[in-house]
Amino acid sequence: MALTATMMVDKHFVISTIDDRIYGSFIEHLGRAVYGGIFEPAHPTADANGFRQDVMHLIRALNVPIIRYPGGNFVSGYDWKDGVGPVSERPRRLDLAWRTVEPNLFGMNEFAAWAKAAGAEVMWSINLGTQGIEDARQVIEYANHPGGSYWSDLRIKHGFEQPHRIKTWCLGNEMDGPWQIGQKTADEYGRAAAEAAKAMRWVDPDIELVACGSSFLSMPTFAQWEATVLEHTYEHVDYLSLHQYYGNAEQDTATFLARSLQMDQFIDSVTAICDYVKAKKRSKKTMKLSFDEWNVWFHTLESDKQIQPWQVAPAQLEDIYTMEDALVVGCMIISLLKHSERVGMACLAQLVNVIAPIMTETGGAAWAQTIYYPFMHASLYGRGNALIPLIQSPKYDTKEMTDVPYLEAIAVHNEARNEIAIFAVNRSLTDKLLLQMDFRSFGAVALIEHLVLEHDDLKAVNTAEAQAVKPHAGGSSAVEDRTVKASLSAASWNVIRLKVQTF
Ligand code: AHR
Repeated sequence: MALTATMMVDKHFVISTIDDRIYGSFIEHLGRAVYGGIFEPAHPTADANGFRQDVMHLIRALNVPIIRYPGGNFVSGYDWKDGVGPVSERPRRLDLAWRTVEPNLFGMNEFAAWAKAAGAEVMWSINLGTQGIEDARQVIEYANHPGGSYWSDLRIKHGFEQPHRIKTWCLGNEMDGPWQIGQKTADEYGRAAAEAAKAMRWVDPDIELVACGSSFLSMPTFAQWEATVLEHTYEHVDYLSLHQYYGNAEQDTATFLARSLQMDQFIDSVTAICDYVKAKKRSKKTMKLSFDEWNVWFHTLESDKQIQPWQVAPAQLEDIYTMEDALVVGCMIISLLKHSERVGMACLAQLVNVIAPIMTETGGAAWAQTIYYPFMHASLYGRGNALIPLIQSPKYDTKEMTDVPYLEAIAVHNEARNEIAIFAVNRSLTDKLLLQMDFRSFGAVALIEHLVLEHDDLKAVNTAEAQAVKPHAGGSSAVEDRTVKASLSAASWNVIRLKVQTF
């Protein structure tokens, strides 16, 4: 049986011009993300800085505009001063967040150089767990002040004459969570964040600041946390953060594929809270959202409990992603694009080895996981105007959810390139979906390609040896005048790329 759906793609119905930083990612000092991931001086592909070039190659192909660093939970116990200056003098420290030993061979200056080589901006998280205002003003002075002061001159002494000019700063991480070093109440955090923000802006007025929202939607303090934090910080910050991971431990794939609808709801709720505080404060400013941790994460949650503590860079959170995980990642990307009016930044968490699109063997190969591909497609082709998805799709119910559309899709119009990209997931596990798209507002369009990610086995994974799940360009799409008819195979991710004809 085939399902049928329609989609009207109208260039005038613009949600927003997408901020490229929606395709950001995240590197934490956690597991083998840094050591054995992006940094491995003994690796055959390492450059003079110890940066793995095989990994760099895979990252550059993702065109990631911004990368959050150094955490994550790690940052709430981190002293950035341990990671600068002569490497031989840097201390080894216990990291209480992940119960490992941090050797501090890689820190701010190395990361800034690495990010530059990767073509990405740095999004720096400050420690508001064990540290406060004094440390916040010191770290930004070290990173961004040109020179002529104690901390900026120290950076110059460390060999970095030019300031790093880090524009985007996160005020702590998940400060509502009991697992966080230095967990705070919303009032405690809101006050600390507001005062740190003021001090940081006095050092560098050009920065953007992100306040911590809830760690995830089901936190018991969700909503009240956001409202209280914003009461304290509204006029001092530019973004409020959201974090969310989904998993399929229940082996209920129909529900798993529908989780992005909860992500839609999460973003809508946080937007409403921001606007409530805006109204209450009679503020002219509209708060933007930074969805700075999102992904699938569940494969290693249980097994990681067996890891022996106090190792350097053990294999932690090394989820091996399946075909169905890639579909969920695709749906999550579409959710972010649907909300691009408010979501100005987002970070796929994380980038290498730790719940990551890229995996490595220490001393060996680097390869792309299944989730690498939808992220790469969206980052490459999803730049421009996100268009309102005017969709009619049949729906299904799951054990947990009702009225789940089989079709999840959005169109992005890149005016500069005269191109349209349709990102579409067919959530049906059994049936292909015949999608008829109407492009009448564009005039004639021509097919560039129809990329598909699919696999007969939804549990298929990629390994160092084999890319079992990788896209092909053999999707079935046909242009008839101003209509495009596409056939989306069951459980597939699709990218239909079109050229707008300009006669
Ligand atoms: O990304 C892994 C962890 O998930 C981060 O350290 C933390 O912020 C979140 O709970």
